Amino acid sequence: MAVDFVSNEEIITEARRRVAQGVWDYLVGGSESETTLRRNRRAFDSIAFRPRILVDVSHVDTSTTFLGAKMRIPAIFAPIGSLQVFDPAGAVAASQAATEFGIIHCVSSATLPSLEETAAATPTPKIFQLYVHGDEQWTTDMVQRVKDAGYAALTLTVDTAHYSRRERPMVTRYVPPTRRAGAAPERRFQASLTWDTMDWIKEMAGLPFMLKGVQTAEDAEIAVQHGVDYIWVSNHGGRQIDHGQGSLDTLPEIVQAVAGRARIIVDGGVQRGGDILKAIALGADVVALGRLQGWGLAAGGVAGAVRMLEILEDELLSTMGLTGLTSIDKVTPKYVCQADPVTEAHEMSSWVNMPVGRIL
Ligand code: FNR
Repeated sequence: MAVDFVSNEEIITEARRRVAQGVWDYLVGGSESETTLRRNRRAFDSIAFRPRILVDVSHVDTSTTFLGAKMRIPAIFAPIGSLQVFDPAGAVAASQAATEFGIIHCVSSATLPSLEETAAATPTPKIFQLYVHGDEQWTTDMVQRVKDAGYAALTLTVDTAHYSRRERPMVTRYVPPTRRAGAAPERRFQASLTWDTMDWIKEMAGLPFMLKGVQTAEDAEIAVQHGVDYIWVSNHGGRQIDHGQGSLDTLPEIVQAVAGRARIIVDGGVQRGGDILKAIALGADVVALGRLQGWGLAAGGVAGAVRMLEILEDELLSTMGLTGLTSIDKVTPKYVCQADPVTEAHEMSSWVNMPVGRIL
């Protein structure tokens, strides 16, 4: 029973038991040497807490407000393509889990079912993530569908100008459904995106706009000048450019450049409640959850994903209590500092019993 999981380590182990090798490789792998993927984890491992004592923490509130909605923890579900390989209901299952627990789901444009079906399945606000996989007419139609379906915000992902070499699934000959013959998108549109295209899409949508894949202060500055409402600091979970920086490592320069002119989302390697607290302390408004979402769904469908979030919330609550923090708005950079990592970073190194690589 999904509800019996006591740790996310147990959830991951169950997910591994339930999915085939190819699906596992698709979920956990990064690009090429997976250096970026490991740096995502190492960045979190290189931050320590500076706990304060003798604060009354008998009531700790982990909630925040995002896109006008109250969320139980400062986290959203990141867009994940081909969610149907983890749960037959695909994006609907992820949205149901997000709704049941009390966070927001950013729905990938590369997953099933349709954006309309996913929007209609749950009453809570949702974000739509767009890849540009067609010409101007195609894009215009997509944006109109997103608006008609009632999405609360639009995310444009821009770290995928080229599709990277993800060698784990390549080696096991696994091709996710959205990339199979007949379904594979034309890459040239995504490759030719510029700031002008972004402006055009943003204007056309007229929705709160999120730019996903910002990795430098320079681009954050340009994005703010172009009126982007949400800067989404991300390297795609280490699945696109290899030998990039850890996502959390780039956060401080981006926070400084943005200087309060936009809200900030960060993802890449968030695996524990404490990681959420570290990201908030370094200036993020919310984090996004990628692989954890896939593990939760694969382990137990909607109930598995909800349980994964409950465990994350419990970790966040205890870390806040032990740090002397009673609410998210009290979190400042003073609660963290740099520290030497003590584990060898890999895609599951947040859990003490997790082996490196594909042994699982
Ligand atoms: C992704 N990611 C992603 N991003 C996006 O903008 N559109 C997409 O369709 C997908 N698809 C996708 C599939 C899978 C299996 C993964 C693991 C990731 C990237 C995702 O939104 C997010 O940036 C990262 O997953 C965050 O890193 P963690 O939490 O997985 O470490």
